[in-house]
Amino acid sequence: MTDTATMEKLVSLCKRRGFVFQSSEIYGGLGSVWDYGPLGVELKRNVKERWWRAMVHARDDIEGLDAAILMHPRVWEASGHVAGFTDPLVDCKTCKARFRADKLGECQCPQKPSKHPGEHTTCQLTEPRMFNLMFKTFMGPVEESASVVYLRPETAQGIYVNYQNVLQSSRQKVPFGIAQIGKAFRNEITPGNFIFRTREFEQMEMQFFVKPGTDEEWFERWRGLRLAWYHEIGLTPDRIRWHQHGPTELAHYARAAYDIEYEFPFGWQEIEGIHNRGDFDLSRHQEYSGKKMEYFDQAANERYIPNVIETSAGADRVTLTLLVDAYREEQVEGETRVVLGLHPGIAPIKAAVLPLVKKDGMPEVALELYNDLRTHFPCFYDDAGAIGRRYRRMDEAGTPFCVTVDGQTLTDRTVTVRHRDAMTQDRIALEAVAAYVRERLR
Ligand code: GAP
Repeated sequence: MTDTATMEKLVSLCKRRGFVFQSSEIYGGLGSVWDYGPLGVELKRNVKERWWRAMVHARDDIEGLDAAILMHPRVWEASGHVAGFTDPLVDCKTCKARFRADKLGECQCPQKPSKHPGEHTTCQLTEPRMFNLMFKTFMGPVEESASVVYLRPETAQGIYVNYQNVLQSSRQKVPFGIAQIGKAFRNEITPGNFIFRTREFEQMEMQFFVKPGTDEEWFERWRGLRLAWYHEIGLTPDRIRWHQHGPTELAHYARAAYDIEYEFPFGWQEIEGIHNRGDFDLSRHQEYSGKKMEYFDQAANERYIPNVIETSAGADRVTLTLLVDAYREEQVEGETRVVLGLHPGIAPIKAAVLPLVKKDGMPEVALELYNDLRTHFPCFYDDAGAIGRRYRRMDEAGTPFCVTVDGQTLTDRTVTVRHRDAMTQDRIALEAVAAYVRERLR
């Protein structure tokens, strides 16, 4: 299977099985905006819940936050986004298309035959000009420059402007962190690759405030913790690597930065950035707001502006990574079996309950089991069609366990549990199913 075919098959599976749909599809879709269907929303929620558990609930030194999307416009001046969150763009006067000037080699000219912009003799590219990626809107009834607000392009700024509030209302002392999951918006010029780069997406960001001088040590510690998280959620370790930003790649706020990259069918790409932001953000907000951002360290009797180590991942991008990593096709008895080999803890449905046949009292026992299991974890009941086809449907949905009620169940109250990956079956007591599955979700 070629890499393009893999992505096409995944996109098709996502639509067919209700993971991801194109936004406003009945109107022809909206460019690079996507909706999550019944299975997709469960999968993405699992990603976010796992992240929240690892970053907030499992640690004493990180607090959660849910800041508003709309913020005072001065925030984006202080952060550098008004002046610097730009991409260089060129327009073609012939075909009227617009391209990233620094990525012409990755763009496609709409004229045929297929070529890059500027390669047809008829192409007339303008000089590059800078284009700000922030979505702008107006607050209140008057559309004037004084009422401009932005849809946030990152969640991080909501954390910086609340850093003193969280510090004062919690019992934290530096070093400590603030974590947040929320929507971000970027008017990307070259979005694409399904939900990899979109215009509306969700970020899972954590800003860790440390004493100046300890930043490099914390930076290394957070690199290790974040890589380990990707192993825990089941990504193939060989398909993950580090990319260190060189001096020309570093964002305006960063002293040092590493990306965690994954090997997608369309190449190695960033899934999370870990940045040493120094005191850039807090100093800028102190300067622009006039409010003190210093921390008073009682033990050392000294004041300083903390340095920030940031971990920044995209919930949609991690969801895509899990889908790509899990997708496989196998030949079983002359037929192609499509499987999403998701980690059981991440899979949208944990168990399916299937009566072998739709008679002889099997559906009744199966429904009773299903109604019990669904109080423990997300389950699915299916009595339609041949058992083999029902297993295949669950393989495609990534469901790790299929519990079948058969003739023997009616005599000895045991069921079979089929494992998605090995396709082997265990026979266990009906009463033991909930504990059996729960044990394997960890
Ligand atoms: N606060 C730092 C920051 O926003 P970034 O590298 O621009 O850094 C961090 O973004 C993460 O957010 C990326 O690693 C990616 O997972 C996700 N992300 C960024 N832009 C995205 C987009 N257009 N679509 C989907 N995810 C995106």
